[in-house]
Amino acid sequence: MEVVIAAEDTIGDLVADEIAELLEGRPDAVLGLATGSSPLRIYDAVAARVGRGETSLARARAFTLDEYVGLAPGHPCSYRTVIDHDFVSRVDFAPGAVRGPDGNAPDLFAECRAYDAAIASAGGVDLQILGIGTDGHIAFNEPGSSFASRTRVKTLAAQTRIDNARFFEGDVEAVPTHCLTQGLGTIMEARHIVLVATGAGKAEAVHQLVEGAVSARWPATILQHHARVTVLVDDVAAARLRLADYYRHAYAQRHLVR
Ligand code: F6R
Repeated sequence: MEVVIAAEDTIGDLVADEIAELLEGRPDAVLGLATGSSPLRIYDAVAARVGRGETSLARARAFTLDEYVGLAPGHPCSYRTVIDHDFVSRVDFAPGAVRGPDGNAPDLFAECRAYDAAIASAGGVDLQILGIGTDGHIAFNEPGSSFASRTRVKTLAAQTRIDNARFFEGDVEAVPTHCLTQGLGTIMEARHIVLVATGAGKAEAVHQLVEGAVSARWPATILQHHARVTVLVDDVAAARLRLADYYRHAYAQRHLVR
């Protein structure tokens, strides 16, 4: 796991560099997209590069991580609406190139199986962008999630509904109780995972992710078992990292081994 402690306003460009490099070598790469506030600067930075003609997603495909169950299509808080607004509509993906799980599918269990199959038939995810919840969830894999889990229906934790009420005009009751989410096992199959966390509220989750015992209590700790994970955090999200000095030193020295 590579830990990069960087100024919040540089994180978007650092990840956009990785994405541009991937697309240069592989224009038909498969991206994994997270919704929420954490990846916004990444999407801004990639959209700016596409706007300047420096990179293109015209041949790329993408899969989102998760979706609420039961929000009407086009609902402003539906993750499909959010990712279209925050990213897809601002870049040059081909029509139909971005897929997300359908939280209104008549058979949610069949939808989950079909979603995993679609990711596999696309050749798997080359670069997966992740945020992390204050309770250590990635996608909507709440504490207690199986490390082997596949895309499935989950019940949202009370803390996640409280955290996400800000997108529902502060009304926690308006936040759906269930979601469809890629499983931890599904996410672990991505070839490169880039997790972004900023703000003091993420400090404990980041500490557990990087330095805690691997446990379903903090689902993101499964990433310690992945061979290629980059964790980008700002100073406040890094505040509880015991080995922060080492991570800073290693990052400053990276040019010596690349
Ligand atoms: C969203 C997702 C979630 C978020 C997490 C952090 O697709 O998978 O795991 O990444 O809840 O959300 P933000 O970035 O809004 O703090």
